[in-house]
Amino acid sequence: MSANQHPRVLVCGASGRLGQLLVPRLLARQARPRVFVRQASTAQALWGDSVEVAQGSFEDAATLGQALVGIDRLFLLSPITPALAEQQLRVVEAARAAGVQHIVKLSGSDWTIDPPGRSLSGDAHGRIEEGLQASGISHVVLRPNAWMQVGLSRIASDLRSGDVLRSQHIGAGVSYIDARDIADVAVEALLNPEAAQQRLGAPGPWVLTGNLALRPQKLAEIASRLLGRPITAAPPVAAPAVDPFIAQVHGEFFALMRAGHAAAVTATVRQVLGRDARTVEGFLGEELGALAVAA
Ligand SMILES: NC(=O)c1ccc[n+]([C@@H]2O[C@H](COP(=O)([O-])OP(=O)(O)OC[C@H]3O[C@@H](n4cnc5c(N)ncnc54)[C@H](OP(=O)(O)O)[C@@H]3O)[C@@H](O)[C@H]2O)c1
Repeated sequence: MSANQHPRVLVCGASGRLGQLLVPRLLARQARPRVFVRQASTAQALWGDSVEVAQGSFEDAATLGQALVGIDRLFLLSPITPALAEQQLRVVEAARAAGVQHIVKLSGSDWTIDPPGRSLSGDAHGRIEEGLQASGISHVVLRPNAWMQVGLSRIASDLRSGDVLRSQHIGAGVSYIDARDIADVAVEALLNPEAAQQRLGAPGPWVLTGNLALRPQKLAEIASRLLGRPITAAPPVAAPAVDPFIAQVHGEFFALMRAGHAAAVTATVRQVLGRDARTVEGFLGEELGALAVAA
C-alpha cells in the first residue's frame, strides 16, 4: 500500500458543512483521512474509529504541528472570520515545515476575489492564495460559487410555512453549486490533481459553478412546480441581527450578487468529474420532498 495510492490527508474544517461531505468520500476512495477538529468527541460522533483524529486549533501551533506529522496532502478550509487569512497562512507555513506534498485550498467565490477590493473575505482568500503560491508547495485552489446548501436550503425551509420565496438577488441570476459537487471535485484535486488539471487545460484556480444561472423568479417557478402551489419571489423583509463583521461580509456578497457577478457558468465540474453538475431542480426536489415528508 503506497502513500501515493492511499495518501494520508489532513482535513481542516472536517466537522463543518463541506468537511462532513469530504471525509466519507475520501474513505470511499481508500485515502486515509486524519481530521483536524477542536473537539475529538465531535469526530468520534461523526465517524467513530474510521478516521484518525487530531484534536487542535488553528491558534495552537503545537497541535497544528502534531496534526501534520506524517501527512502527505492537506485540505485547507476555515470559516469566514476576521482571522481567516492569518489562520490559513499559519497552516500553510506549518505544512511547509512538515513536508506536506500537496494542498487543496477551499477558497472564496471567484467574484469575491477578482478584482481585489470587492469584499473582506475575498481579499483574505486572495492573500492566502498568494501565500500558497509563494510556499512552492504543489496546490489546487477551488473557488466555488454560492452553495445550494446555504442559499437554497434556507429558501426551502422558508417555504415550509409560506408561499413567498425571499431572495437577496431579485433580478439577478446566480449559478448555485451543490456542495456535494464541490466535495467530489475536492477529492479529485486531492487524489488525482495532475489528471484533472490535464483535462482542464489552463492552470489557475478551479472556478466551480452550477450549470445554470437562475433568477429568484425562476427559482419560484421551480418551487411552485415541486410543491404544487403558487410561489412568488420577493426581497427579504428584515435581515436577522448578526455581528458587524458578518453583516458587512454578507452585505458585500449580496450587493455583488444583485449586480450579476455570481451568474457566470463554468464547465469545471464536468471537466473534472466527467458528468454534469447537480441541478437546482434536483436539489430543491430533495429539500422540498424532505419537508413534505416531515410535515
Ligand atoms: N457558503 C458558500 O456559499 C461559500 C462559497 C464560497 C466559499 N465558501 C467558503 O467556505 C468556507 C466555509 O466552509 P463551511 O461552510 O464548510 O464551514 P463551516 O461549516 O462553518 O465549518 C467550519 C469548520 O472549521 C472548524 N474551525 C473553526 N474554527 C477553527 C479553529 N480555530 N481551529 C480549527 N478548526 C476550526 C470548525 O470546527 P468546529 O467543529 O470545532 O467548530 C468547522 O469544522 C469559508 O472559507 C468560505 O469562504 C463558502
